[in-house]
Amino acid sequence: MIKTDTLKKSDFGFTQIPDNEIMEFESTFGAHHYGRMKLVVRKAEGVWLYSIDNKKYLDCLAAYSAANQGHNNPAIVDAVIKALHGSYSSVISNVIYTDSLGTFLKKTANLPPQLGPRFGNNGNKVLPKNGGVESVETALKMMRFYGYKAKGIEDGKQEIIVFENNFHGRTISVISFSTTEKYKKGFGPLTPGFKSVEYGNLDAVEKAITPNTCGILVEPMQGEGGMYQPPVGFLKGLREICDKNDLLLVFDEIQVGLGRTGKMFCFEHENVIPDGLILGKAISGGLIPLSVFITNTELMNMAFNPGSDGSTYGGYPLACVAGSAAIDVIVNDRLPENSRKMGSILEKKILDIAQRSSHVKEVRGRGLFIGIEVKSGDAMTYCRKLLDIGMLANDSHGHTIRISPPLIITENEVDYITERLEKILVD
Ligand SMILES: Cc1ncc(COP(=O)(O)O)c(C=O)c1O
Repeated sequence: MIKTDTLKKSDFGFTQIPDNEIMEFESTFGAHHYGRMKLVVRKAEGVWLYSIDNKKYLDCLAAYSAANQGHNNPAIVDAVIKALHGSYSSVISNVIYTDSLGTFLKKTANLPPQLGPRFGNNGNKVLPKNGGVESVETALKMMRFYGYKAKGIEDGKQEIIVFENNFHGRTISVISFSTTEKYKKGFGPLTPGFKSVEYGNLDAVEKAITPNTCGILVEPMQGEGGMYQPPVGFLKGLREICDKNDLLLVFDEIQVGLGRTGKMFCFEHENVIPDGLILGKAISGGLIPLSVFITNTELMNMAFNPGSDGSTYGGYPLACVAGSAAIDVIVNDRLPENSRKMGSILEKKILDIAQRSSHVKEVRGRGLFIGIEVKSGDAMTYCRKLLDIGMLANDSHGHTIRISPPLIITENEVDYITERLEKILVD
């Protein structure tokens, strides 16, 4: 591996093109679908991002939980480099076998407990794709197919219950059931078959069920929607409703899974087992796009057969090598435990700051997933101030500062965060 601590300033970055020119390139030649903050990152390592002048920024966004293992985690980088040098990294058609896919599927299938146990103790099966929203789409297909095949709902009439303030990605079908107007305005016609109800409201869920309902898709904790935990008992209540009405319960843990909230899976806080689970982001440690839908073998076999689904890059060798190494890091380095420990220290310190601040409306968090809602409703103003003093954070739903650093963070680095929050939040 390249030893980054021996790099000279001139070694940083892909090019030595000055920051203002890079920003100009992006502004001129790229779609403006993100409002960028003024930082051009030339190196990322652990919890730190570096600019061209070697200024350090603590990354409290961690690419929306994709970099849970820390940027360029050495174990994952090593695995990827070995695969590249060993000539087992390039895409190979899914019509034949690769050992990298086989071993990744086995590791991933065995990571959660038996999903959908009411369908039997059959083990789990995994369907890999190239990014979170693709696996959300896979889950929607699964739920619809179950409705058609197992429940006898007329094809085309299946309904799925989702929640207000949800975020599941950006494809046409997925934005169709977003309740955030700017995600979908002007992009119609939208996909039918979804009913959105208040997050946390079990009565509303029961009322939304019709004979055509086949499943419920939910984030066990909302990330993009403003960092909200549902009321205690909500996930259990959903489980009971699904069992009573023969519906599939699918958890989207793309952002809150894999250690982020202090447990391997967010659903473990309530001991509720879903029928299907969607993972992405940190499943490949922030290096190669990869996502998965995992479900009971019985259900996966029911919905997907040769020809009914596919993806050229989904489960290709380099992604699977990164995925296997990324899971090993989470397990072997006990990242959920560190998330719980550091998250609890960080949250206590943030609560103390909030008590002395006139800017903070509410602090919400679990593990290293902490939101600071500001009274002004404009979290980005605070995020820009944080960037000036060496810390990257962004907003969740406009009103909340999201604090979600890589899970490898140390106590000294937690202090670095709280010193900066103190500076911008306490007058
Ligand atoms: C809960 C959740 N679902 C789905 C997605 C979409 O993932 P991707 O951007 O990889 O398509 C995200 C992304 O932030 C997410 O947080």
